[in-house]
Amino acid sequence: MQELLAEMEERRKQVEALGGEERIQKQHQAGKLTARERVEYLLDPGSFVELQPLTQHLETGLMEGADAPADGVITGYGKIAGRTVFVFSQDFTVLGGSLGKMHGQKIARAMDLAVKVGAPIVGLNDSAGARIQEGVDSLSGYGEVFYRNAIYSGVVPQISAILGPCAGGAVYSPAMTDFVLMSRGTSYMFITGPEVIKSVTREEVSFEELGGADVHNMKSGVAHLEADGDEAVLDLVKKLLSYLPQSDREKPAIVETQDPKDRKTPELLDLVHPDPRRPYNMHQVIQALLDEKEFLEVQPSFARNIIVGLGRLGGMSVGIVANNPRFMAGALDIHASDKAARFIRTMDSFNIPVLTLVDVTGFLPGVSQEHAGIIRHGAKMLYAYAEATVPKITLITRKAYGGAYLAMNSKDMGADIVLAWPTAAVAVMGAEGAANIMYRKEIQSSDNPEATRKAKIEEYKQAFDNPYVAAGRGYIDDVVSPEVTRMYLIRHLEMLWDKREERPWKKHGNIPL
Ligand code: HXC
Repeated sequence: MQELLAEMEERRKQVEALGGEERIQKQHQAGKLTARERVEYLLDPGSFVELQPLTQHLETGLMEGADAPADGVITGYGKIAGRTVFVFSQDFTVLGGSLGKMHGQKIARAMDLAVKVGAPIVGLNDSAGARIQEGVDSLSGYGEVFYRNAIYSGVVPQISAILGPCAGGAVYSPAMTDFVLMSRGTSYMFITGPEVIKSVTREEVSFEELGGADVHNMKSGVAHLEADGDEAVLDLVKKLLSYLPQSDREKPAIVETQDPKDRKTPELLDLVHPDPRRPYNMHQVIQALLDEKEFLEVQPSFARNIIVGLGRLGGMSVGIVANNPRFMAGALDIHASDKAARFIRTMDSFNIPVLTLVDVTGFLPGVSQEHAGIIRHGAKMLYAYAEATVPKITLITRKAYGGAYLAMNSKDMGADIVLAWPTAAVAVMGAEGAANIMYRKEIQSSDNPEATRKAKIEEYKQAFDNPYVAAGRGYIDDVVSPEVTRMYLIRHLEMLWDKREERPWKKHGNIPL
């Protein structure tokens, strides 16, 4: 027996040695933790249980005789804040973390178990893409993972931390998951690297400029969050998970809060000026309303004209979607529509109520937006809100005009409760534009066109630039003071917490993509 145990220990030691001391040092010098150190950091101490550590690569293609401990990926499960989570962690010290058939299969098996037990799956990605030596077998390995990313989407939360290169096939698995987080300066994502790009298009670009964390968090919208270094990214993963349930079968946990449910927010009385041209900081509004003023913004640097993120009200998780009047006057454009629609669907998948804060004059006008398909993209928002069956509360802080009023979850689009502040104005468009269109002839033919124009604008304002017409028709449930809004939101959310909304049977809807 002792001999057998010694052999077992020896095999395990070889696996735990990863790709060898030299490559581990290189990994550390690059400012990265090893695959095992990451798992240790992510999970509650001592909770990790490894699966299939003794996996060997297929002796296929050009892999004969190659050494690949654990086939370059560590998989298993453990706890985060006491809750079960499945994890896979690609090991860059083994063939650059490249994905071979068994590597892919290990990830797939962990995903299958995660879905069977109903627990999130966190991928720690650090991979040079398909393992070239394995040829088509490595592509098959990717296929197994991609397939599950898609069919398990909306079943258990899938979170991808990008902690090194993610090249070629390595990008598409994260792209299908719910949240992508990147480490600044040490991670990048691209389909083809700088060298291939240079040979095909003659463009010269660095790794960082092509697919670094800033690029994907600011420009492409591929990533949702970024932080400096592995630990900070893994901390964000833990925080994100705290707002989510284990699976689509559950609601998010209700967390104890010291923040009184009836806390008044007098600071909001002066923040939102009645003059619609005076911008204000919507982040301050969000923070004031949420428990402990804590808001985890998602995609904070992409499409800044809309704000999305997670917080709590009375201990209940809530997803926030809010116009940001400080950027492009909060107008909805293509990127903002994509960002919001995707977030709403993520919230709906995992039973997280959506709170929408509205201050928007409309969709962004312009030839480039029209030609790039603002109709198709804007339609995603309408679709996502209507499709969502979670509790939906809308608060109109100031302007709610036209199509954007509908796109920001109006009553008719399925909002359960719509509140407005006295500063709100619900209309087809702003008073100036409306008066110019409706009374053009009258203004032009008048003795004093400017005075007539002003009078007509005032007339329209009196008629529509307030919340009371919409409240009178039942489109707004109530007009409330900013000072007591938090209390109202929590009461409505508690009332809606067990909401159920059925939809006609269908295979699946066909969201415009
Ligand atoms: C097997 C690979 C590999 C790969 C790198 N290695 N890429 N092994 N398959 N795809 C090995 C190297 O030989 C090296 O082995 C070790 O990993 C580390 O690589 P280095 O190049 O030394 O590291 P670094 O300088 O940090 O550069 C990392 C890198 C670079 C930028 C990721 O390795 C690279 O560009 N690799 C190719 C990326 C790529 O084109 N992938 C696409 C594959 S095709 P030793 O033994 O020296 O440590 C694909 C299509 C799938 O993915 C499509 C599915 C839809």
